[in-house]
Amino acid sequence: MCGIVGYIGPKDAQRLLLNGLKRLEYRGYDSSGICTLLANKYSLSIRKLPGKVKALENLLKKKPLSGSLGISHTRWATHGTPNQANAHPHMDCRGEIAVVHNGIIENYAQLKNRLIKEGHKFRSQTDTEVIVHLIEKFYKNSFLEEAVRKAIGELKGAFAIAAISSREPDKLIGARLGSPLIVGVGEGENFLASDAPAIMDSTRDIIFLNENEIAVLTKEEVRITDFSGKRINKTPVRINWDVAQAQKGGFPHFMLKEINEQPGILEKFLNTRLKRENGPVVFEEQCIPEEQLKNIKGIEIVACGTAYHAGLVGKYIIESICGIPVCVDVSSEFRYRKLLIDKQTLVIAISQSGETADTLAGAKEARAHGASVLAICNVLGSTLTRESDGVIYTHAGPEIGVASTKAYTAQLTSLYLFAFYLAGVRGTLAQDKINKYLQELRGIPQMQEEILKNQAAIGALSRRHSHFGSFLYLGRNINYPSALEGALKLKEISYIPAEGYAAGEMKHGPIALIDEYRAVVCIACESKVYEKMISNMQEIRARNGKIIAIATSGDTKIKDQVREVVFVPRCSELFSPLLVALPLQLLAYHIAVKRGCDVDQPRNLAKSVTVE
Ligand code: AGP
Repeated sequence: MCGIVGYIGPKDAQRLLLNGLKRLEYRGYDSSGICTLLANKYSLSIRKLPGKVKALENLLKKKPLSGSLGISHTRWATHGTPNQANAHPHMDCRGEIAVVHNGIIENYAQLKNRLIKEGHKFRSQTDTEVIVHLIEKFYKNSFLEEAVRKAIGELKGAFAIAAISSREPDKLIGARLGSPLIVGVGEGENFLASDAPAIMDSTRDIIFLNENEIAVLTKEEVRITDFSGKRINKTPVRINWDVAQAQKGGFPHFMLKEINEQPGILEKFLNTRLKRENGPVVFEEQCIPEEQLKNIKGIEIVACGTAYHAGLVGKYIIESICGIPVCVDVSSEFRYRKLLIDKQTLVIAISQSGETADTLAGAKEARAHGASVLAICNVLGSTLTRESDGVIYTHAGPEIGVASTKAYTAQLTSLYLFAFYLAGVRGTLAQDKINKYLQELRGIPQMQEEILKNQAAIGALSRRHSHFGSFLYLGRNINYPSALEGALKLKEISYIPAEGYAAGEMKHGPIALIDEYRAVVCIACESKVYEKMISNMQEIRARNGKIIAIATSGDTKIKDQVREVVFVPRCSELFSPLLVALPLQLLAYHIAVKRGCDVDQPRNLAKSVTVE
């Protein structure tokens, strides 16, 4: 998820483009850049570098750009380490065209090979750069609008782009397919942006581009067409959000926005990893040789916090799909204990940030013992990804809320797909069985959407329980880690003591805690251990414990046990953590809001724990 801003008008473009980027930093901030058509020179000039927008601002103070036409970009890398060469904007071979892009071009590798054969010189590792060279290819004896139209006709994947050319100083062009892009309509000036906050100081009259639409902007005019060139009439809408609200997409907190982003992220992730209906799972950056994966005897998963809980779910997934023993440990223990691992061990290090000190140390220890390390990470180019033998990026976009939500379900999805990939490599599961699982997995985003449609009721149920002084979360089998994760979500943003437990362990201690002052969240989805969960609930009721149950839609028995139930759609037990996570995230969120806590920046916590 990156941030795009474009400007055409009478004013100094640099100031408007830079201020716009500052408002979009929540969309990505590992590198940024700006390009303007220099005043009176009719040539394009670029300033771009890794780091936050502040670094670009400092660079522009030393080396400012003139001109009143320009584009700018703040990046959340998906292809190519965050560095100067990979930062946007990108230029064609002749330096006449500049492009910024948000999205993923799935067929960039073959396009890049073809363009190189045609003589184009590439300067970056990004997928974006193929766009500007395609425009260059079609720009000969043509106009920018036509060249952009032809270029995007070659692209597969998701994109929002902005393009300018020194040959047409009166044009700013945008196009949208799969990533957001809006037009800001001003007086004698017009704007492009990924999101409204970037341009709200200049105009609140917005045209929201739909899929397959191109915007051709001059100072005086906005013309919208579809990808075939057919004119589309659109009337600007006036937005009255304040900036902070707009950065959260109208949600009151980033955490709630990110909870609601999960189905879309999962859908996009599956589409980039499963190229065809029954095609193989594709991991571009997973560089551990298949021969080596065939010979591993054991897997160790190392992580912290929410990532650790994802690893625990991963144990159930990989052991059931691949038949390989999996140990899971928190990084701070793994890094100091005697490690019985060697080159036949695969260590999977899971980290949203890729900068967690304990997990980095664990990965280092693992490699020192001869094991190969596979990183599952959300931040491209982060330290962990550079210190691992293979990487699976979760592509969840920047997670701003300190409490991890979308990164967690993206980590789970990476583990599911890795397990199917590994089962295919090792032949432990027939391809038709794998395809059947993948088919079901493709249906999960829709099921998550169904849960989110019920979030108002989940919010009300949460508020009814926000006065409880402590919570116990109980789960079994693959949802035992879901119970741990649900407890962590609640405690870290509401500060209510909450602990997750294997439900079968209740009688070995926690049952002493049960009384009318404690709320007990029971994960009782359809499963081979469902009846055991019913027994647990009977024991809790007998002691006046207050139960909130997560159960499977259509379960008619559960209401005999408990009034407060959140239903999730029926799916295989294997995939149920991807559904159970959402009501548990919403429960924590609404209770924390009810208690007046700072949901996005809880006390004492950091988004990335880069110290021991
Ligand atoms: C999760 O909600 C917490 N913010 C925290 O436990 C986090 O999961 C942990 O610090 C690990 O971070 P990482 O995934 O960036 O390594």
